[in-house]
Amino acid sequence: MGSGLHQLLFPLLSLLLLLLFACPSTSEPGQFCNSGFGYGDFAGEVSSSSKLLIKGGTVVNAHHMEIADVYVEDGIIVAVSPNIKVGDDVTVLDASGKFVMPGGIDPHTHLAMEFMGTETIDDFFSGQAAALAGGTTMHIDFVIPVNGSLTAGLEAYEKKSGKSCMDYGFHMAITKWDEIVSQEMEIMVKEKGINSFKFFLAYKGSLMISDELLLQGFKKCKSLGALAMVHAENGDAVYEGQKRMKELGITGPEGHSLSRPPVLEGEATARAIRLASFVNTPLYVVHVMSIDAMEEISKARKSGLKVIGEPVVSGLVLNESWLWDPDFITAAKYVMSPPIRAAGHDRALQAALSMGILQLVGTDHCAFNSTQKALGIDDFQKIPNGVNGIEERMHVLWDTMVESGQISVTDYVRLTSAECARIFNIYPRKGAVRAGSDADIIILNPNSSFEISAKSHHSKSDTNVYEGWRGKGKVEVTISGGRVVWQNDELKVVPGSGKYIEMPPFSYLFNGIEKADAKYLSSLKAPVKRLRTTT
Ligand code: URP
Ligand code: ZN
Ligand code: ZN
Repeated sequence: MGSGLHQLLFPLLSLLLLLLFACPSTSEPGQFCNSGFGYGDFAGEVSSSSKLLIKGGTVVNAHHMEIADVYVEDGIIVAVSPNIKVGDDVTVLDASGKFVMPGGIDPHTHLAMEFMGTETIDDFFSGQAAALAGGTTMHIDFVIPVNGSLTAGLEAYEKKSGKSCMDYGFHMAITKWDEIVSQEMEIMVKEKGINSFKFFLAYKGSLMISDELLLQGFKKCKSLGALAMVHAENGDAVYEGQKRMKELGITGPEGHSLSRPPVLEGEATARAIRLASFVNTPLYVVHVMSIDAMEEISKARKSGLKVIGEPVVSGLVLNESWLWDPDFITAAKYVMSPPIRAAGHDRALQAALSMGILQLVGTDHCAFNSTQKALGIDDFQKIPNGVNGIEERMHVLWDTMVESGQISVTDYVRLTSAECARIFNIYPRKGAVRAGSDADIIILNPNSSFEISAKSHHSKSDTNVYEGWRGKGKVEVTISGGRVVWQNDELKVVPGSGKYIEMPPFSYLFNGIEKADAKYLSSLKAPVKRLRTTT
């Protein structure tokens, strides 16, 4: 499409999408018709140029940084080099003194997820709007099967994600096992662009699966070139721990932490790693929350196993003391699984991240408001598990890890964007600022500061686990698919403008798997041919 025609049609299309998605007859607070929530008065604004020049910033990629201009046309980065000359039809953004980096990719979110008798408060519009305001331009959400059916689960998530305003991909959870699930996994990988499957070793009675199923799932993942992911807590032992708390008369949020201590996370992590190693397939451990789990990952990686560890922001910077707060709502907002741990685990996870023991950072954004958290007022087991983070991840991580000198700016890009793109096989389309990549870019000012509050955040939740956090390093501009969507603290987002990103199988983690299998087979020296002698 010529850019003139593009400029003419885009506002009309946007207006149409506005009518379709954003202004239902009962517009909820937080939806973007309510400009008080800061999603932007976009109807007259989205006709911005499809040509952009980001001038004079320090362009940062995972392995390199340089002062350069970045030229973008129709959603794609066309050139990265010093002193690019352009015509008058190009919007110019001055980035001197600032960092120009790939937009964040959050590998772990739950938008509009039905869970524990309710649904997460952020849908694919509010959650993504929040993400964009915080410098994240893509996320990977978990499709939950419907009654075990992957096909029905995907259909439901395709509907939910129709209002997306930024790019997204899907992982798929596996909650039961039979021949149909096995065939559906094949369809998901070969036809639907899903290259990762999550197995829950916790949530007994709902999402949890047995070791027998886990092994079947790992084998199938391996044959498809799909990455197996685990929620690593021993669900049977957690159930036992919950009974123990009840017997002790502990019903408040602190019971959540006490019933599922780090040792249960360590055990499940070790078990999943050993079973993945037995099958010889790569493993991705989601939300690594404890030293116990991290040390298992460290050991495995040292012995050459292909194990990826994903800490989440809450585990990196918070501690469990909040769960003992006398105010129920304050305490309940920190309930997630595995639990946020005692002080000390957070610093150890930060150190592991800086040393390469853990590879990328997610959020597990799974936000519930106070009313939803109050479902568990008399019983911690009924508190919906989950915390926010999709909007805060980039800021909190910069402040905690870069400002403190624990990691470099290039490390920051690797941990927040590039490595995620590599693991899920969409690099360098995503995760890089280089010619040919999608124009998902942020401009971060290291000298500017940010402050986090539920009063100003873009999530629909009325609380924020990072309430009051002030720090250095602010995402001043977010560019999504070549359009400026966040600037001057204003969001201009269009429901329906986000694209589904298909993720192909056989990422770099699968390199060498066949050779290792062949080596294993040749090492067996079996079956031994024996003479049958009958006497
Ligand atoms: O508490 C959490 N983590 N909620 C989301 C579901 C999950 O286990 O990832
Ligand atoms: Zn989980
Ligand atoms: Zn999760």
